[in-house]
Amino acid sequence: MDHYLDVYHDLLRDWQGSDISFLEIGVYKGGSLDLWQGFFGPKAKLVFADIDPECRAMERPGLTIEIGDQSDGAFLDGLAARHGPFDLIIDDGGHKMNQQTTSLRHLWPHLNDGGLYVVEDTHTSYWPGFGGGLRKPDSMVEVAKQLVDQMHSWYSDEPHFKFYSAAQQIGSIRFHDSMIILEKRLHDKPRSLTARNGAVSYSTVQVDSRNRKSVF
Ligand SMILES: C[S@@+](CC[C@H](N)C(=O)[O-])C[C@H]1O[C@@H](n2cnc3c(N)ncnc32)[C@H](O)[C@@H]1O
Repeated sequence: MDHYLDVYHDLLRDWQGSDISFLEIGVYKGGSLDLWQGFFGPKAKLVFADIDPECRAMERPGLTIEIGDQSDGAFLDGLAARHGPFDLIIDDGGHKMNQQTTSLRHLWPHLNDGGLYVVEDTHTSYWPGFGGGLRKPDSMVEVAKQLVDQMHSWYSDEPHFKFYSAAQQIGSIRFHDSMIILEKRLHDKPRSLTARNGAVSYSTVQVDSRNRKSVF
């Protein structure tokens, strides 16, 4: 989709020309190999994965292609052990719910602090043929919505809302049309901002929540 390119351009500008460690699931005819090699430049470490063994033939200097199934946790664990950790992971593979959520679960631990995890074509969360459907709890969109709650689990004392470690790992979750972007940001305290007389800064007013000091 064309609008992905605008989103990527804004999001990834700072990594151009760097030694970024990158993984994309989904090769197909290799269109994104040219795109990312051109965009990031020769210092980038680029890894691609696809279930189709014919994709291996597109391997070339500057990039590696691994063959395997993104819904196979053992394949993903091995891939991450060989090539990770990554700064940027893009899932443009089979787009089925089980594929997207299994890949996120297995690859998230191998994303660097400050890294981004992107899932493309998330409109399939609404397609029964892909395991989706409106508000289906295990769809990619619903899993990401649950992560929004988990990311905020610092801030509640409601007994039925437990604390999730996602709160310590996720800095932001962005929903674009057909695209979800999770930013990994390791932090052991809640992050809050305050504004006074128009100036925005980190707050110094402390409150206790779940026996943790929080700021407002
Ligand atoms: C949308 S295409 C990728 C397009 C490519 N990223 C591009 O922009 O040119 C999807 C690819 O995912 C692969 N795929 C489908 N199911 C998969 C799975 N379970 N594991 C890994 N790759 C899979 C397909 O073989 C296909 O090549």
